[in-house]
Amino acid sequence: MALLNILHYPDPRLHKVATPVASVDDSIRRLISDMAETMYAAPGIGLAATQVDVHKRVIVVDVSEKGDELQAFVNPVILERNGEAEREEGCLSVPGIYDKVTRADQIVVEALDRHGNPFRLQAEGLLATCIQHEMDHLVGKVFVEYLSPLKQNRIKTKLRKRARTTL
Ligand code: NI
Repeated sequence: MALLNILHYPDPRLHKVATPVASVDDSIRRLISDMAETMYAAPGIGLAATQVDVHKRVIVVDVSEKGDELQAFVNPVILERNGEAEREEGCLSVPGIYDKVTRADQIVVEALDRHGNPFRLQAEGLLATCIQHEMDHLVGKVFVEYLSPLKQNRIKTKLRKRARTTL
């Protein structure tokens, strides 16, 4: 396993669109393991392959309190969205920034697991928010893009300044 480098907003590579995984092989399983290790080390509750500059449709999520319920989704698709919930979000690619985003409160998602087997999951609350947030990364969307242009510019300025002063 290996820790992967996480891209930071406004890195243009965060806006690349990921392509579907053709077959869930050992290289994808290694990617999932490395992404999980990177997510837990950060620490975070979700990570998309886009954030580690791998542009394949893979996300990992663990919203459990103990951090012992890893879920990996390969080629995830949302089949149903119900209700609305506003939740404060953060992102490992936008360190130190938190803001409210409104998303569906309940979703039904279909994906392949790390063995390539299809599964369907009904998710709600934090898990639903997290899956939607990570799936946005796969189409090149970062959560701050839901905020006002003014806020987005402030965040960009802040993170660029921080990048320049970090040795
Ligand atoms: Ni994120």
